[in-house]
Amino acid sequence: MSEAPDRSPSAPDWRIDADFLHLELGAGAAHAWAVEVVEETGSTNADLTQACRAAPWSDDACSVRVAYRQTAGRGRHGRPWRGQAGLTFSVAMPLALSPARLSGLSLAVGLALAEALEDVDPALGARVGLKWPNDLQIDGRKLSGILIESVPAGPERVWAVIGIGLNLVRDPAMEAALGRDLAGVAEAMTTFDPQRDPTRILAAIANRLARMREAFLVDGFAPMAARWSARDAFRDEPVRLLHDGVVQAEGLARGVDGEGYLLLHTPEGLQRIASGEVSLRGAGA
Ligand code: BTN
Repeated sequence: MSEAPDRSPSAPDWRIDADFLHLELGAGAAHAWAVEVVEETGSTNADLTQACRAAPWSDDACSVRVAYRQTAGRGRHGRPWRGQAGLTFSVAMPLALSPARLSGLSLAVGLALAEALEDVDPALGARVGLKWPNDLQIDGRKLSGILIESVPAGPERVWAVIGIGLNLVRDPAMEAALGRDLAGVAEAMTTFDPQRDPTRILAAIANRLARMREAFLVDGFAPMAARWSARDAFRDEPVRLLHDGVVQAEGLARGVDGEGYLLLHTPEGLQRIASGEVSLRGAGA
């Protein structure tokens, strides 16, 4: 499929229900998080990275910024994020950790997102797979993308700005524009209420991210690796690792290790692959 010209999407017709959201957060681990919802912005990640640069350090001051429409959404590998029909938001999360202890964070975020969707609807959770390092997919179609940017605030202090784009409905126009198949949470949920469920999903993600943060600060990603590997959409399948479209390695995916490296079984033996700039593809893709 050839790529159609980029057209920014219009704002969705659902809205976050602020009262319901605060109720849901109040009963969960993200009860103290500050939440801001705006109609439109360039990029929620850009907004929060800028805010973190100016903010005084606080060990626990997590915040969320949701936008119904982004005009300059950012994706991984410098790609634009063309605001699929869904939830677009960022979380600013202070982590009092050295850079070495941040390994696996992006996988921990993807896992928290998948588990949040399971909290919302087990039928949905059962369909969601993880594509290393942190995409969520349903039946090979992209459901969500995560972009983590970091703002250093001292030797053992970093703000992680976690940007999440989660498709709510499968949008054929967006698929045509992007030239790839997408998925939406609605298609896999037992029932989907377009007015109430975006708020439920946002609250469930915030609560799971807050719990992940507490666990990550103490033990890092290692205790989560088995849960991640159990949701690995490519487990034991042949895959290729690409950099700028060029194949860097091929083998069978064997899950991830405690630092979030992909384990790749190759004729030369088991290789550990760092996420960095490489993208994973099924060997048939
Ligand atoms: C990817 O390329 O897979 C990651 C996409 C991340 C998009 C989200 S949408 C909310 C937040 N703000 C941005 O500008 N990007 C992230």
